[in-house]
Amino acid sequence: MPGSRVPRRRRFLVCEPRHFAVQYAINPWMHPDRPVDTGRAQAQWQALTDAYRAHGHTVETVEPVPSLPDMVFAANAAVVVGGRVFGSLFKAPERRPESLPYDTWFKSAGFDVYRPESVCEGEGDFVPAGRWLLAGTGFRTTREAHREAQEFLGVPVIGLTLVDPYFYHLDTALFVLDEENIAYYPEAFSPGSREVLARLYPDAVTATRKDAEAFGLNSVSDGLHVFMSPGATDLADRLTDLGYLPVPVDLSEFRKAGGGIKCCTQEIRS
Ligand code: ARG
Repeated sequence: MPGSRVPRRRRFLVCEPRHFAVQYAINPWMHPDRPVDTGRAQAQWQALTDAYRAHGHTVETVEPVPSLPDMVFAANAAVVVGGRVFGSLFKAPERRPESLPYDTWFKSAGFDVYRPESVCEGEGDFVPAGRWLLAGTGFRTTREAHREAQEFLGVPVIGLTLVDPYFYHLDTALFVLDEENIAYYPEAFSPGSREVLARLYPDAVTATRKDAEAFGLNSVSDGLHVFMSPGATDLADRLTDLGYLPVPVDLSEFRKAGGGIKCCTQEIRS
């Protein structure tokens, strides 16, 4: 209901894009021959972290490693629910070494880290949503990892199959608005998974391909403010009508690597 939405303060972990680049191609957005404007990427990332802080959220940083250009995508390092850290095992060999600096960060912050045996990419494919853990598969995270995550976190996993290579991680096709509701791009999912989402979330906000391609589903909501790509204009209008407050943050440089706002943000849920 408009006017009644309440933001909740979040604790975020991010990684400065000091060494961000596109040096290999592991999703259809990545073209190593297309240069990244590093200065612009830095400024866009700074604007994102400034926006989080300006809205009362805590932002912590992990030190970037020079040889790991995708390390800026902090969401992929783990999924944290109730203070339990379920780490990652990246599919691409290029990204596997990212787990170590993140695990080290979590340990120094006082957390134990569970090391999964199966391929999984943290909040890229595991999306905590109220009572459930929504879990993507099809391109990166495996069904076996879904099982491991449910066993470790004790949260019921809802497996969802992704079918469009442009939306290779669940967090490129779906985000959580609040405890009750989500927004998603239906065509990114298999027919059965679409039915599951429609059953669980009859009032969900569905987005167009244009909004999805603008990385509009790679947003971060605190329950009221929705930090989102300015390109997802229809989605922003729909959310405004529903009483949310879109906060536009342009991360267009990161789209060259197939990432956006949520990809750059790990949420530490205590
Ligand atoms: N280049 C990275 C990859 O393909 C981008 C990761 C984006 N992260 C995300 N949470 N969707 O792995």
